[in-house]
Amino acid sequence: MTAQRACALSELEQDAAKRVEVDGVAISVVLDSNGDVHAIGDTCTHGDVSLSEGFVDGDTLECWAHGSAFSLITGKPLNLPAFEPVPVFVVTIDGDDVLIDPNVKKEI
Ligand code: FES
Repeated sequence: MTAQRACALSELEQDAAKRVEVDGVAISVVLDSNGDVHAIGDTCTHGDVSLSEGFVDGDTLECWAHGSAFSLITGKPLNLPAFEPVPVFVVTIDGDDVLIDPNVKKEI
């Protein structure tokens, strides 16, 4: 599996998350305030909730349901109630294309 186009870079809003599906995998894509693009699993590990509907704060994405904030770098939750990490995917930017390989998880 190679990286696939997930969305356009120009459609991402700064400090907001966008839900995409790549090869059937739900992913939250975040453009942070430094201009870096992150991709983490979209499903909160505490419940069946879309993290992309949550809140970006620095390099974290907070679940709207019960407040666990997941690191966009490591995928780990920084506070309870979630305690299992979400996967982190490698992002490649090619012009205006955001490419993600849903099978490649970043080595932390
Ligand atoms: S469902 Fe995300 S913290 Fe509870």
